[in-house]
Amino acid sequence: MPTINPVKGTHDIIGEEADVYAYIEETFAEMAKTFGYAHIVTPVIEHTEVFDRAAGEGSDVVRKEMYTFLDKGDRSLTLRPEGTAGVMRSIVTNKLYATPDMPLKYFYSGTAYRYERPQLGRYREFRQMGVECVGEDNVYLDVETIALAYRFLSYLGFNDMKLVINTLGDKESRLRYRAALVDFFKDKIDAMCEDCKQRLILNPLRILDCKVPEDHELAKSAPKMKDFLSERSKERYEATKELLKQLQIPFEEDDTLVRGLDYYGEVVFEVHCISPEGRDYGAICGGGHYEGILSSFGGPSDNDVGVGFGMGIERIYSLMKEFGLTTDLSEGLDIFMMPLGEEAIPAALTLADAIRELGYSVELPYKSCKLGALFKKAERKKAKFAIIFGLDEIKAQTVQVKDLAKQQQEEVSITELPRYLDAHIGAEKGE
Ligand code: HAM
Repeated sequence: MPTINPVKGTHDIIGEEADVYAYIEETFAEMAKTFGYAHIVTPVIEHTEVFDRAAGEGSDVVRKEMYTFLDKGDRSLTLRPEGTAGVMRSIVTNKLYATPDMPLKYFYSGTAYRYERPQLGRYREFRQMGVECVGEDNVYLDVETIALAYRFLSYLGFNDMKLVINTLGDKESRLRYRAALVDFFKDKIDAMCEDCKQRLILNPLRILDCKVPEDHELAKSAPKMKDFLSERSKERYEATKELLKQLQIPFEEDDTLVRGLDYYGEVVFEVHCISPEGRDYGAICGGGHYEGILSSFGGPSDNDVGVGFGMGIERIYSLMKEFGLTTDLSEGLDIFMMPLGEEAIPAALTLADAIRELGYSVELPYKSCKLGALFKKAERKKAKFAIIFGLDEIKAQTVQVKDLAKQQQEEVSITELPRYLDAHIGAEKGE
């Protein structure tokens, strides 16, 4: 039989790698809660228009990358390509905005799907964590959101990351800038890539982000956003930078940073980090301030603003691995049971069950093995202690407990075992 490979752009996450993913998600959840965020879980499948309306039909994600299909009832459904749109839809569906306690703050984590060309750090199924802070238009919230992303990545151990920021200004600023870009590119567009031709019609700002070298070169001499900003947006951007300095969060400015989704206005940001081997997995975090999504779903149009970000867990993991930031996460096993002979295995099963109730991790062999083989297994499992016994010991209600690091062995009565384990393993674990 030929083997079946995973779907292109998807991957299996196994064992220690899965543990690190869980650690990343748990740490993020804990930190998001300290910033006042509540957990939200939205469906992976949504009606296609959720993304058309929120992310914008001009974005590459919506135009080219969505996994869209008709279900058996001929409804057009889409696997979410990102987290923001679903959260906004949920806020409207559940009328979460009907509260005096604005802003609404939600964090999430889950898989997302984009039909992209798989390459380093770019998957078709990936895991994205993020936050959305909705319903209050406030530079402090913009900065606090950036601070959460920065503090979280610092906590994971990233020292060499680069936070890049830009402003896309308010609606009037963007309209003026858009017109200037159309004017600048209109006699150059014939020589540019097919994507840029589309972008000129749908969202000319996206041309600035084109990766085709000739187009990228041309874009460098295009008009700059900062020359089209309204006074209000200019002041807001200056205030953002001042507050970031006040929080001692280092940043760089890049006026070509436009982001890939259409809902942004005012501040946008990304975090990049190059691996020690010089590998660029792409942005590990991207986000910004946005407007008009709730009303596009039939929600209220007053205070229809928000700020948030998304982070790619695969990219974070790959970089943590390369920077050696994952090494301390695998704790190893507390106890490996060593029943001597087939007839001692049922007692090992019972004892393991009782010890697990105390909160320790325990494994046992399920068939009879020689003592030498058991010690080798315990070593591979990075076990701290071995509990060794045969039927005779069980009858006498005692076991031998061996500290595998110190190579010291003691006889312990079964009734004393909980106290013994708490004193020896519990103390080491800080319990
Ligand atoms: P995004 O920049 O499209 O923004 O994605 C956020 C992050 O998801 C990226 O920085 C990257 O780490 C990860 N990511 C994106 N595509 C892939 C992929 N194909 N493979 C692996 N990782 C990927 C958003 O999605 C916005 N919803 C962020 C946001 C939230 N803005 C405001 N609120």
